[in-house]
Amino acid sequence: RPRVLSGIQPTSGSFHLGNYLGAVRQWVDLQKDNDAFYMVVDLHAITVPQDPKELRENTRISAAQLLGAGLDPDHCTLFVQSHVPEHAQLAWVMNCLTGFGEASRMTQFKDKSGRYGAESTTVGLFTYPILQIADILLYQADAVPVGEDQRQHVEITRDIAERFNTRYRPTFTVPKPYILKETAKIQDLQDPAVKMSKSASSAKGLVNLLDDPKASAKKFKSAVTDTGTVVSYDEEEKAGVSNLLRIHSALSGQSIDQLVAHFEGRMYGALKTELAELFTEWVTPFQERTRTYLDDPAELDRVLAIGAEKAREVASQTLETVYDRIGFLPAA
Ligand code: TYM
Repeated sequence: RPRVLSGIQPTSGSFHLGNYLGAVRQWVDLQKDNDAFYMVVDLHAITVPQDPKELRENTRISAAQLLGAGLDPDHCTLFVQSHVPEHAQLAWVMNCLTGFGEASRMTQFKDKSGRYGAESTTVGLFTYPILQIADILLYQADAVPVGEDQRQHVEITRDIAERFNTRYRPTFTVPKPYILKETAKIQDLQDPAVKMSKSASSAKGLVNLLDDPKASAKKFKSAVTDTGTVVSYDEEEKAGVSNLLRIHSALSGQSIDQLVAHFEGRMYGALKTELAELFTEWVTPFQERTRTYLDDPAELDRVLAIGAEKAREVASQTLETVYDRIGFLPAA
């Protein structure tokens, strides 16, 4: 069975709609026919300042949301990154294979470091993509389900895997990004020119999965569209409407063409109201399932402990092979 791997940051407690539609939904689908590894990436989270108590709490909330979204511990390996020390160990090796210039070209770093300023930007933020390389290669992943903003990180992972394979000998599977076109980039509801994001979106532009569904329904209803009236798909001229159509399509399972026909002769308000209802129908049971895991921390810990053990079995084997190929003296 093909191997898939992906990760999500626990930074903010609640996931947002972009996280779900861009990534987590695919994780749920892929667990059926793949050997799937999914993790909450707490090591990545500390590349920017974190309050210890909140980080611990948000890590739990993140794992609970992944289960609430439909990850099934019997069909995938769900774990917390820091529970598997091999991630940090392989990351060091990857640091020593990656060029400084190569790492400097990562756009996520450029965006984020711009936001924090040179003095409070950590070296960890700079090497963030290199830890991600280690995450992916440790599990010999064939595919990495992510949103469009992570494509560059999967591409550099491919380059480094090939470099290692050439310099030593074939060791790593060269992974492919798994990015679904329609949901690869969910846009901010207030500014459809930019992606929905925890750090950059305004409160009204960001749909948090754990917020009161009524508040989220309001955000859909007041989403920015354009001065036209006809519901049609045009990413350039009608970025707002097109974003709403893509979200509707993902939640309802109807194609964009079907939706455009469905809304013929009706105005934007009809699309927004229907979308608010669809979202509420999905998010309400999601929140209930998430809550059952949050109310049973012992069960959540048990799931994560089993996940960490399964992950370590794979990760430790890869690391052992890598250490051997590099020429490290085995510990007696
Ligand atoms: P993170 O935590 O920022 O986001 C988690 C996933 O959500 C996707 N995403 C979006 N998709 C569509 N539209 C949006 N507006 C949107 N916003 C976020 C992201 O693309 C991502 O797939 N570096 C990763 C975490 C990571 C990882 C890994 C991923 C660490 N190690 C190994 C894959 C494999 C990140 O910051 O995701």
